[in-house]
Amino acid sequence: MTIPPQIGRGMDRVDARAKVTGAARYSAEHGPPGTLRAVLVGARVPRGRITAIDASAALAAEGVAAVLSHLDLPRVAEAPHLIPSLAGTTAHGQSFFPMQDERVHYAGQPVALVVADTLERAEYAAGLVDVSYEEEPWVATLAQGRGDTYEPERIFGGFAPGRIERGDVEAGLARADVRIENTHHFAANHHNPIEPSATTAVWEGSGLTLYDSTQGPTATRLTVAQLLGIPPSDVRVISGFVGGSFGSKAMIWAHPTLAAMAARHVRAPVTLALNRAQTFTNTGHREEQEQAITLGATRDGRLTAIRYSKTSPTSPFDDWAEPSMGAVNRMYACPAFEGAHHLFQAATMTPTFMRAPGEATGAFVIETAMDELAHELGMDPIELRLRNHADLDPESGRPWSSKGLRECYTLGAELFGWADRDPAPVTGAARDGHWVLGTGMAGAIYPVYGVFNPQRARARVYADGRAVIETGCSDFGTGAGTVLRQVAADALGVEAEAVTAHYGDTDLPTTVAAVGSSGAGAISAAAHTAATALRERLVAQAVADPGSPLHGADPAAVRVSGGRMVRPDTGAGETYGEMLGRHMTFDAEALGEWTPPEQAEYGTATFGAQFAEVAVDPDLGLVRVRRMLGVFAPGRVLNYRTARSQLMGGMLWGLGQALLEATHMEPNRGRWLNTGLDGYLVPVNADAPDVRVEMIEVEDRAVNPLGVKGVGEIGQVGMAAAIANAVFHATGRRFRDLPITVEAVM
Ligand code: MOS
Repeated sequence: MTIPPQIGRGMDRVDARAKVTGAARYSAEHGPPGTLRAVLVGARVPRGRITAIDASAALAAEGVAAVLSHLDLPRVAEAPHLIPSLAGTTAHGQSFFPMQDERVHYAGQPVALVVADTLERAEYAAGLVDVSYEEEPWVATLAQGRGDTYEPERIFGGFAPGRIERGDVEAGLARADVRIENTHHFAANHHNPIEPSATTAVWEGSGLTLYDSTQGPTATRLTVAQLLGIPPSDVRVISGFVGGSFGSKAMIWAHPTLAAMAARHVRAPVTLALNRAQTFTNTGHREEQEQAITLGATRDGRLTAIRYSKTSPTSPFDDWAEPSMGAVNRMYACPAFEGAHHLFQAATMTPTFMRAPGEATGAFVIETAMDELAHELGMDPIELRLRNHADLDPESGRPWSSKGLRECYTLGAELFGWADRDPAPVTGAARDGHWVLGTGMAGAIYPVYGVFNPQRARARVYADGRAVIETGCSDFGTGAGTVLRQVAADALGVEAEAVTAHYGDTDLPTTVAAVGSSGAGAISAAAHTAATALRERLVAQAVADPGSPLHGADPAAVRVSGGRMVRPDTGAGETYGEMLGRHMTFDAEALGEWTPPEQAEYGTATFGAQFAEVAVDPDLGLVRVRRMLGVFAPGRVLNYRTARSQLMGGMLWGLGQALLEATHMEPNRGRWLNTGLDGYLVPVNADAPDVRVEMIEVEDRAVNPLGVKGVGEIGQVGMAAAIANAVFHATGRRFRDLPITVEAVM
């Protein structure tokens, strides 16, 4: 019997039942009996000095075990670094650790920590800690700080340049027949995963176990070990269930280390869980920003030059901006590009990765500019994009490892019914009762970020026919634990249902933090390598075994299906279990290590085309998205169902970016105002229209063994622009600032 390929199947998520039945336990729920609860106290002023801390009332409160502040918290052995390596080989987080001195750099910065026997008592006592401040002048918003900017050499933790220049932009703009000049303002955004970040710290002698809600258990291990000045091998990090992240759990912020310090201080296990409001000031955000673009083109729609600039606030410690220039630079063929990021230091923590960091906002800028250009030229927006199709990667000049964007445009246009569209905005012409209708589209690009260090996994088969695949990655809602089984199953020649996956534990072989949509590529490479090594070992053992029906067969010709090794020449065979049993062995295992290639030959990115239909009520200022379509070319699809779910989630976040999501900074207080899901609006089912996701599988031999380019973030990239372009089509009005609010449309 031959079993069908397991990769690509729409296998149900293996953790789904535990999640929906409440059986899943999260990081705050792992404390052994006697675990104490820690609660942070955040600074009330955005900048200044702590002049006094009176903890007496808190210490006298019932159940309180300790109140720690800069007065008694140990100093860290070494300050954190701002991600020198996404691979998680060095500490990463903002390069500032709180409660080391009396300085306050941003509102909400932890200034004290209360430990008590219950969460309620710790929260109550936290409210009793009396901190006095001497406030100093500060800026917190773009409006306040934009007058005094600097140009950073590198941004995004060092991963992206602050400036890019190629070709002669002046000459390109001079010979342009048409120019589009736009300025956009984007509100700050916060991730808001359903599970706020949490850590449970348990010491046993010199060994520390952390149950941590993280995208990268190894990153937590290395960072906490560095800060505490202990060997990384003394730290075990377990991240079984993680309730979403969207980038907020990629960097290792202060709370895991604070939990470990608190646990050491009170000599008991400690759980430190941020509340919803605290996630707004302790786990990063997407910075408020302004982006400006000038785009030149010839009358026949060929781009001649792009000039781009971005201004945004960063923390006093780090040159952080999301690299929005990448999408603007790489989406279309254009002979000249010039772009730069401008920063000013504000009273804020260091911003961080958030849902397609850079691309989500940069694509909005280039894709609305292209829509405006198409309108200006009287050209179909897809035709304009085809005329400027980048056959080579504009950034590096190299060929793409794979692309598939033309196919995305074609299939998308067909499925959406693009050909029937009236190209000009026909304000009020397309109506549904009071609603004015319009459609729009946009392209999408997301980099395939390479990983830098070896990715490891261990595969094991048992004589009873079961198999196990193990790797240290976390599954924070992506489906990693499910696709691991499918990848191992195909390499071993068994059904995915016969495979169990162990992950989310630094005791397992190391894989990279799941960031930048690179998780599936990295773990599939490791799992494929390990499981292939195991199959080859077992086949080699069988053909060398005089007792086996496979004895003497050509190992390369042996096929395994359903756990049964078969030689094609005679059709004879036996199962892994039969062979192992004959040798009185119950199991066999192999470690696999995949070393990422130097990606010097190709430009690597994932592409897509996205479409939206909106209905606008011009009197009430309402924008309702009626249809969304995304067609993506993500390389190999490991699991149709989980990939579709990832892409659909991304598209809904694009809807949030376009119409809902904004964190408001109170300009006189320097604090985020709407720090809860009551005030920070995210799309819910009632906002979710008909969402259709299609995938085009393109072969990619360069990125990793299975050609997986990733689906984690590209779903969001073009969605907001497609919606805004549809709003223009409906109303004839351009909305360049996000989110597009009711007040703006009214
Ligand atoms: Mo993802 S937003 O790059 O962690």
